[in-house]
Amino acid sequence: MKNMNRKEFTKGLLATIISYALMDSLFATNAFINHINPLTKHWAIKLNEYCSDLKKQTITPKEWQSLIDELYKDIELNDLIKFIDFRKLQTGFQYPDLGVNTKPVFFPKLDGLPENTVFIKKIFGMKKDRAIIPHGHSNMASAHLVLNGEMHLRHYEKIRKEGDNLIIKPTIDKLAKIGDSSSISDEKDNVHWFVANTDTAFTFDVIMLDLKGKATDIHNIDIFEKQNLSDGTMRVPILDVNTALKKYGKETHH
Ligand SMILES: [Fe+2]
Repeated sequence: MKNMNRKEFTKGLLATIISYALMDSLFATNAFINHINPLTKHWAIKLNEYCSDLKKQTITPKEWQSLIDELYKDIELNDLIKFIDFRKLQTGFQYPDLGVNTKPVFFPKLDGLPENTVFIKKIFGMKKDRAIIPHGHSNMASAHLVLNGEMHLRHYEKIRKEGDNLIIKPTIDKLAKIGDSSSISDEKDNVHWFVANTDTAFTFDVIMLDLKGKATDIHNIDIFEKQNLSDGTMRVPILDVNTALKKYGKETHH
């Protein structure tokens, strides 16, 4: 029995030593993963991967929209604000009297992130009551994250183009606040319209042009002239940019 006990004890000891050895190597693996995680899992790298997948058509625009939506939910907004140096971008920003102005965004160098991202990145800024006028796009996808201020945000599904009109259907009508995001594509929520409710309002925009190798197009619409159709959709005239800016670039309260 004594002998057996010793055997058992030795077996147990060996098992323990093996477990420790295994744990040790696991810790080593974890330490390695922890070391590389901040680099490989950085939101900017993920964002570039999603955009690259969209460009290669390995994901659909709709999938891209939901991936970015999820990504933006996880992002620590203050980290993003520091990463893009939003304070510096805001300094000396020229606010137009009608509509919005933009400034290009530059990312700092990061391992795993190409110097030229596959997407265009900009901030859009405006004064109170100014708007990113109601418009839709073709062959384009974009995502918009509110960095500052509050905006009245409306989206519409683009059903089809009929001559000089778009047939659209309302999908989103909300107050977009700091940290909220929205996106557009030919597949989902194509038409968007932002009106600033606060002294200033800014979004961080990620833009993918010329999807499927086709040139991007833009359609400014005259939403106030909408004609409600019996199936819940509406017919809206397409406007040239100057007329659209005059009519929608600055909201006047009566
Ligand atoms: Fe747009």
